[in-house]
Amino acid sequence: MENIINPNKLPIFDSHAHFDDKAFAEDLSEVVAQMKENGVVGIINNGVNYESSAKIVELSKNYDIFYSAVGIHPEDLYSGENFSPDKLLPLLSNPKTVAIGEIGLDYYWDTHPADVQKQWFEAQLDFSKQVELPVIVHDREAHNDTLEILKKHKPKGVLHCFSGSNEMAKEVLKLGMYIGVGGVVTFKNARKLVEVVADLPLDRLLLETDAPYLAPVPFRGKRCKSDLIYFTAEKIAEIKGITTEEVLNASLENIKTLYSIK
Ligand code: NI
Repeated sequence: MENIINPNKLPIFDSHAHFDDKAFAEDLSEVVAQMKENGVVGIINNGVNYESSAKIVELSKNYDIFYSAVGIHPEDLYSGENFSPDKLLPLLSNPKTVAIGEIGLDYYWDTHPADVQKQWFEAQLDFSKQVELPVIVHDREAHNDTLEILKKHKPKGVLHCFSGSNEMAKEVLKLGMYIGVGGVVTFKNARKLVEVVADLPLDRLLLETDAPYLAPVPFRGKRCKSDLIYFTAEKIAEIKGITTEEVLNASLENIKTLYSIK
């Protein structure tokens, strides 16, 4: 069965993806052409270390729909350095670099000790203030520490792929931050996230994929690309009792506002 993606070609903006991933190495230009055909107007690729941050900035020069967030992911931290992300500085001169990300805490994979993760996270939050860019925050199984650090730094930005409780979501909103929602909301076991989305004001929602990961139903388990956001928006529309178009438009406007994209 062929699923029709975005039949009315509503404009789709993906606030979080990884098109530098090897999953796209063979056919990136075809995938980009296909996504544009399906209504995708913008994508923010997220760096996870110095190499991938440099790579996505290069990609943003070659593809009009790509923007970049540059940063060091909690699984990709460097040891033996003084927790300084200064090496990202040259990447900020590109006008399509719109955020610092993805940064944060990951106690699920736990690749680095918690204290090292926290030091890198805080250093990058300080850095984002210094360079006046919003942040894209990753939090996996680290809700308490993430919230504590966010309360301390009060950054502008988004908590991406939100996986906390409704209570936590309300705390994050109080800080003025946005909440990133992706394909997980379409999964059968998404009860907690559905509750968060039901209460979430539309002016704080950012749609995302985390492509090539977390494809929404009916593409769950397949390689994810940004046009599949249509199914995530459809599900959110159903939860909130509004139209898919309203969801896509709200997220698009929020992304433009947060990242100062014209
Ligand atoms: Ni990601």
